[in-house]
Amino acid sequence: MPTKLIGKQIIVRELRKSDAEDLQNNINDKNIVRFMTNIPHPYSKRDALNFFKKISRYRKTKKDAAFGIALKTTNKVIGGIGMHKIDKGNNNVELGYWLGKKYWGREIATEAVGLVLDLVFKKWKFHRVYANTFHKNIASQKVLKKFGFKLEGRTREKWWRENQWHDVLNFGILDREYKKGK
Ligand SMILES: CC(C)(COP(=O)(O)OP(=O)(O)OC[C@H]1O[C@@H](n2cnc3c(N)ncnc32)[C@H](O)[C@@H]1OP(=O)(O)O)[C@@H](O)C(=O)NCCC(=O)NCCS
Repeated sequence: MPTKLIGKQIIVRELRKSDAEDLQNNINDKNIVRFMTNIPHPYSKRDALNFFKKISRYRKTKKDAAFGIALKTTNKVIGGIGMHKIDKGNNNVELGYWLGKKYWGREIATEAVGLVLDLVFKKWKFHRVYANTFHKNIASQKVLKKFGFKLEGRTREKWWRENQWHDVLNFGILDREYKKGK
C-alpha cells in the first residue's frame, strides 16, 4: 500500500518522477543543504532522478523510506521527510526532513513530523525514533522538542561544513513518551 498521510496543510506521500522539478526547485538552496548530510549542491535534475532510483532501492531493501511533503492545495512537493536505518530487530529508526525555504515558519515541518511519528509509533509499533541535528540548527531542534524528543547526547565535531567542524546533537523519543505527549 503506498504511503499517504494527510494533515491540515500537507500530505506526506510517495515521490514520483513528475515531482523531479518541484523537488529540485525547493532543495537547491544553500540554506537547506548546510544543515543536511548527503545532499548535493547545486542540485540538478539528474540528482533528483538519482534520488528516485535510490528510493526504488529503499522500497526493495525496506531499510530506508523517503517521502515528499506536498501542499494539500496543489499536491506539489515542497519538502521531504525520510526514515533511515530502519531497524526492525530493535524497532528503532532515524528521522530526517527538510522544507523549501519559502515555506518555513508555518509549522509545516511540525505537521509532517507528527504524521510520520503517528505512522511509526501507532502503525509500525516502533519503540524509538531518533534524529541528529547540527548544533546550530535551532529550528529543527524546536520541531523535535515540540514532540517530546529528549537530548541524548552531543557528538563532537562530526560534520565538516563551511570550512569548519560542527558538533551534532542527538535527540530521541520513545513510544511511551510520544503517547504521553498526545
Ligand atoms: C528545520 C525545518 C524543516 C523547519 O521547518 P518549519 O516548517 O519552518 O518548522 P516549524 O514552523 O514547524 O517549526 C520551527 C520552529 O522553530 C522556530 N525557529 C525557526 N528558526 C529559528 C531560529 N533561528 N531560532 C529560534 N527558533 C527558530 C520557529 O519559530 C518554530 O517554532 P514555533 O512553532 O514555536 O514558533 C526547516 O527550517 C528546514 O528545512 N531547514 C533546513 C533543513 C534542515 O535543517 N532539516 C533538518 C535536519 S535535522
